[in-house]
Amino acid sequence: MTVLLTGGAGYIGSHTAVELLEKNHDVVIVDNLSNSSKQVITNIEEITGKKPITYYIDLLDKENLRKVFFNHKIDAVIHFAGYKSVTESVELPLSYYKNNVTSTIVLCEVMEEFHVYKLIFSSSATVYGTPEKLPITEDTPTETFNPYGNTKLVCEEVLQDVANTNNAWKISILRYFNPAGAHPSGRIGEKPNGKPNNLMPYITQVATGEHDCVKVFGNDYNTRDGSGIRDYIHVVDLVQGHIAALNCIEKHENIDFFNLGTGRGYTVLEVIETFEKASGQVIPYEIVDRRNGDVAISFADPSKTNDKLSWRAKKSLFDMCKDSWRWESQLNRLKIYN
Ligand code: NAD
Ligand code: WQD
Repeated sequence: MTVLLTGGAGYIGSHTAVELLEKNHDVVIVDNLSNSSKQVITNIEEITGKKPITYYIDLLDKENLRKVFFNHKIDAVIHFAGYKSVTESVELPLSYYKNNVTSTIVLCEVMEEFHVYKLIFSSSATVYGTPEKLPITEDTPTETFNPYGNTKLVCEEVLQDVANTNNAWKISILRYFNPAGAHPSGRIGEKPNGKPNNLMPYITQVATGEHDCVKVFGNDYNTRDGSGIRDYIHVVDLVQGHIAALNCIEKHENIDFFNLGTGRGYTVLEVIETFEKASGQVIPYEIVDRRNGDVAISFADPSKTNDKLSWRAKKSLFDMCKDSWRWESQLNRLKIYN
């Protein structure tokens, strides 16, 4: 199979490229490097011994995107490209709508023109807003509270409407819970721009001394220890979910929605404690006010994905911490990225 990965130089896209190359698929990457670097492509090659074909272009650049489809017989597209910061999206909503929604429209137009109809879309558990019931199934009503979340929901709706136009479309919407961890080689991982908003990269940067301590956003939630609960999923498991979706895409409805989570939630304090055990580092923390817009508890019911895609997350929180730490320490020691 030849699979086009938009945003293939990014965190999740690069891990997917490795997995696909290792399974002997051909990989074509489109990335404008707005949140990644060429070094990622070199490192994908180092891990797999194969170089993905890469176009450093913007998805909004329709003419150049058409050339990619003209040059390669693409069988399926996994669409990772987009901006992903909730805070930044509040400051730059137009930029988020343009980059996330318009690029999805441009991509679908070009796919349609070249009769490529298999599409896997990176959505997010953020579309569930504040769920009334836990665990979260795919039927949980959607609601969003910030421009980033809105862009994901609008893309889902666009794709639903597109799928309704033609039964040839085969679209899987994957709603990720909280991706964490890195490739076990330590050669690729998450490299946030500036100060991380997400918990795991923040913890790893405290471990390297870049920040003094983790600020735990609230200890007065109705949870085991008062801190927020999330469903952390190892990026390698997440990628396996994409491969499973690709393998099954012909079999299910022409559009379907899948949670990618483990089904198990951990508190912030449990993540810190597990990271300390996995890394041997002491992670100082202080309790601060709740963060605006945070829900107390979020975790998936992954049973639909388990059943329909024959996929199940295998790796533990300990694995995520160990691999995140290996990645962060190599990043620091080798300064392999700009
Ligand atoms: P990332 O920022 O590491 O990767 C995205 C990649 O897309 C980057 O390499 C960036 O340079 C590229 N890109 C962005 N806009 C582009 C454009 N217009 N044209 C070409 N390339 C462009 O993000 P990630 O963590 O790998 O996330 C991938 C997808 O998964 C995103 O759509 C994100 O919203 C979604 N998602 C991520 C998380 C998470 O916590 N990481 C959770 C849920 C959903
Ligand atoms: C996890 C837990 C925080 C940082 C976000 C996006 C979501 C998705 C994943 C893309 C929460 C607590 C965090 C810190 C803390 N991304 N925390 N101190 O908020 O579940 O989801 O990333 O789609 O859209 O909203 O993830 O990693 O930010 O937070 O105490 O410095 O850690 O309150 O309980 P979140 P997160």
